[in-house]
Amino acid sequence: MTDETEQHDNPNAGKFDKVVALCHNRGFMFRSAEIYGGFRSTYDYGPVGVLLLRNVKEAWWRAMVQLRHDVVGLDASILGPPQVWEASGHLQNFTDPLVDCTECRERHRLDKLEQPDTCPSCGATGTLTEARQFNLMFKTHAGPVEDSAAVAYLRPETAQGMFINFMNVQRATRKKPPFGIAQVGKSFRNEITPGNFVFRTREFEQMEMEYFVPPGEGPKWYDYWCNERMQWYLDHGLPPKQLRLRPHDADELSHYSAGTSDVEFQFPWGWDELEGIANRTDYDLSQHAEHSGERLEYFDQATNERYVPHVIEPAAGATRTAMAFLISAYDEEELEKETRTVLRLHHRIAPYKVAVLPLSRKDTLTPTAHEVLALVADRWMSDYDETQSIGKRYRRQDELGTPFCVTIDFDTLEDRAVTVRHRDSMAQDRVSIDRLNDYLAERLR
Ligand code: GAP
Repeated sequence: MTDETEQHDNPNAGKFDKVVALCHNRGFMFRSAEIYGGFRSTYDYGPVGVLLLRNVKEAWWRAMVQLRHDVVGLDASILGPPQVWEASGHLQNFTDPLVDCTECRERHRLDKLEQPDTCPSCGATGTLTEARQFNLMFKTHAGPVEDSAAVAYLRPETAQGMFINFMNVQRATRKKPPFGIAQVGKSFRNEITPGNFVFRTREFEQMEMEYFVPPGEGPKWYDYWCNERMQWYLDHGLPPKQLRLRPHDADELSHYSAGTSDVEFQFPWGWDELEGIANRTDYDLSQHAEHSGERLEYFDQATNERYVPHVIEPAAGATRTAMAFLISAYDEEELEKETRTVLRLHHRIAPYKVAVLPLSRKDTLTPTAHEVLALVADRWMSDYDETQSIGKRYRRQDELGTPFCVTIDFDTLEDRAVTVRHRDSMAQDRVSIDRLNDYLAERLR
């Protein structure tokens, strides 16, 4: 398929600028240090962005840890000593080939250039320098002395925390393979060409799980996790046509990988990666065992066998996934007199589940509106808004993706009932305050 045909069939083509503008205007993401002109493709998550991102991570944790008895959690340190990255291979291999344009002085990744001798920034040919390998890890110093003994790195992935804690976690939990260790947290890469909003940034959040299995069971669990992970995205609202699992070709595989597949989403610029699922064999544990001198093995008392488990790794990006949810949820609906912008987010991902909207600012409605807010806020993240017309407030909540608006009107004072308005259909139900939480709970499961 040519790029053009692909873009023609892409339901998300043309949405990019609109989503970025909405994110800025409604408080999802802001450019970091914006008042100083912004800081090198870093972003701050605003009042609704922080909720969205937390919901993505919470939905992942729920599926990967809470609902499973074979996966436990971890929160390892971000700063690490060089030995970890020496053993993992990152010090040597975590590099991108970098070229500089002598004409415009822009820097590019050679492997991402459409034409290897043309600068994509200024169009000049023959102006690119020889490629040199550029390590993507951020280096810093731990402690007051900037000597080589104190060198530390910000982790470029959360995964190594799970490998180096394998024995600690196994001993503490007495888990027997197959079992997994999951972690959500920040990672840092000095990307040469960050871009596409929060798709590729230098500081980002990952959601990774290392699943340790008996050596012969790698392929079986690799297939299992490919299916599970695809299903997770579908369960949380990504349309099947905008999602695919792409197995890596043999020449794309890392030398230790016995199989890798990417979960890809159809971004406005085309198919791109949300998550990688890899069969990493016994590479990581063996490397750390060799470099640390510690035995990183499992001893099976039942069979008297000792072995180095193999690892299946589903490694996803939280910030990237949040962006995919926003893009696929973004919709413009033509109504009689206007265009309604609505984020049709899955209710688990939506920042607010409920918005409480008194019909007017009249004092008579306020006590009941506050009573209803206290009732729903106890269960769900809720917004409260009493400014502007009710129509404008509905539109605002549509743009935030709030599944339910609860309106308190003057009849409420008589019948103790409220109007519940549904985001997607705009249908309205009258529900008594006594039953409101049950009504919402049935729909927000
Ligand atoms: N432990 C394996 C690992 O880190 P990866 O494919 O390099 O694998 C996993 O990263 C996921 O982390 C990616 O699929 C992507 O979602 C996310 N990710 C990686 N680099 C990123 C960046 N610069 N900005 C945002 N997300 C990134």
